[in-house]
Amino acid sequence: MNNWIKNYKNTTRIICISLLMGASCWANAQETKLDVRHLASEQNIVSIREAKKYLLMPVEDQAPESRVYVIKGNDRIGTVKNIRLARQHVDYYVPLDLSDFAGEAVSLDIQGLSESAVCWKHLKPSETFDLKNREKFRPLYHHTPAYGWMNDPNGMFYQDGTYHLYFQHNPYGSTWGNLAWGHSTSTDLVHWTYEGDAVMPDAWGMIFSGSSVVDKENRAGFGEGAVIAFYTSAKPSPWGDCQTQSLAYSLDKGKTFIKYEKNPILVSKERDFRDPKVFWYAPGKHWVMLLAVGQEMQIFSSKNLKEWKKESSFGAKQGAHGGVWECPDLVELPVEGTKEKKWVLICNINPGGPFGGSATQYFVGTFDGKKFTNESPTQTKWMDWGKDNYATVTWNNAPDDRCIALGWMSNWQYQTLLPTSQYRGANTIARDLTLYLADGDYFLQSAPSPEIEQARGEKKSFPKFKVRDTYEIESLLPENKGAYEMVISIQNAGASKIELTLSNTKGEKIYMYYNVPRKQFVMDRSESGLVNFSQDFPAVTVAPIHDTDDIQLRLFLDRSSIEAFGEGGKYVMTNRVFPSEAYNRLSFTSSRGSFTVKSLDIYPLK
Ligand code: FRU
Repeated sequence: MNNWIKNYKNTTRIICISLLMGASCWANAQETKLDVRHLASEQNIVSIREAKKYLLMPVEDQAPESRVYVIKGNDRIGTVKNIRLARQHVDYYVPLDLSDFAGEAVSLDIQGLSESAVCWKHLKPSETFDLKNREKFRPLYHHTPAYGWMNDPNGMFYQDGTYHLYFQHNPYGSTWGNLAWGHSTSTDLVHWTYEGDAVMPDAWGMIFSGSSVVDKENRAGFGEGAVIAFYTSAKPSPWGDCQTQSLAYSLDKGKTFIKYEKNPILVSKERDFRDPKVFWYAPGKHWVMLLAVGQEMQIFSSKNLKEWKKESSFGAKQGAHGGVWECPDLVELPVEGTKEKKWVLICNINPGGPFGGSATQYFVGTFDGKKFTNESPTQTKWMDWGKDNYATVTWNNAPDDRCIALGWMSNWQYQTLLPTSQYRGANTIARDLTLYLADGDYFLQSAPSPEIEQARGEKKSFPKFKVRDTYEIESLLPENKGAYEMVISIQNAGASKIELTLSNTKGEKIYMYYNVPRKQFVMDRSESGLVNFSQDFPAVTVAPIHDTDDIQLRLFLDRSSIEAFGEGGKYVMTNRVFPSEAYNRLSFTSSRGSFTVKSLDIYPLK
């Protein structure tokens, strides 16, 4: 029997005994060593006589937050934890780590929760916290947090064969709050291991988004190969929010971070002042920091990573301004088929995306170490044409001069309502970025990173076939676990519309089509499964395409997501979907002329 169940049974027994005895507090102090006292004004004291490694806290996802302070003696230890402690029912548990006090007496000051809340009956001291997956909608080859809320990817760097991914993590619930940098690692960008939380909130606030650099030549003086992380310290207060920039460094390859003693290193009176992206600008021999400030990006320079000088700002009258600008990045990329390189400024915006809510726009131009100049000022360029790719940023120090990007596969419009609870939030698959030229302008090409092919199981191929009206494939895979890649090549012979519908036996479907005269790829997820949890979820997303004769499409499905890459990544569309069973049927329909499916290969997840 696992510890989780054992503890649960134990607790149930104790509750029964307490009720029989008519005790005012639920717990038998002898067995659980836990005592609860309810005071005035929704104030409560939980006293634990001998702490175990964790106290498991019962959460009700949609309940208001309560404040939890750990108290040793008469002093608060650490920062406040805002936890949606269960009032009516328990949705799941989160672990409060008390290992520093194991075997000792420790108390909790819990504020904003009445005596009648069910929470008091469900607090569980435990030596373990069960991370086994309980979610049918957890993607299998995309990164997800082992538990709790996740938004933006942060501080990504590559070192000695390992990709490090930090992320906006709430270790105390599956909704936004208590932001820390969760940490996962991978050697192949497909399989991820959760390493715990690496940077925790402190006196300056929560740990918002940011970036890391590997300081190979010890330019900052923290040590050769030190990993230096920059993040926004975000302090909400009754007088409004305050955001400053802070630094922490790691001397153990990103496992643990030491916070710089003179934090914060950069302050401002601006309210939205965040998401530092730092990189080394070799020609100028200096560091560059980009910050998202309101609706512009500010560019700073530094010789030592601690003192920063403002050089310029970018944004006025450029691109989309339907919302606040966030999570900047600035990378130099090769242009496919040429010897040319261009700088690309990545700018996440929320709201104001092309299909509502969050999205990633970008600008292509030049950068002289201090100032970015956009060379195509009239057109807003979107990196992904779905609803679920946000906060896209790139890996520092990626191998072979690659530029590898990762997005948060979600949208602020409905992220808190997604139908999962043990975890909430997933990342896209990794994408290699380059530029291509079309009609005299430069655009981003986001190709699936080649590592993703390691996820491929045994290929199932369908022989070439022609579609005049409709062609149905009843069973894509004999055993379909909802995680597979599909590679499709189509030769158009005059069709004006090429339709592809992925569906299941419940009639849930993802309807996709090429609108040939308009040169568009369209995806409709309005009947894809569970969609009613938010009025913003059902959607039709549209991407501009180049080639309507020779169609190349790669589709990645992973339980609750679909990513479409056309023309090698010249257009990308990422959407979450929540089907009640895997899509295992595929039908093709042609309007007017016909087309030939030259090849159709399916790779179930290995
Ligand atoms: C983007 C964002 C960032 C911020 C973080 C907070 O999704 O709003 O600007 O740092 O999320 O979690």
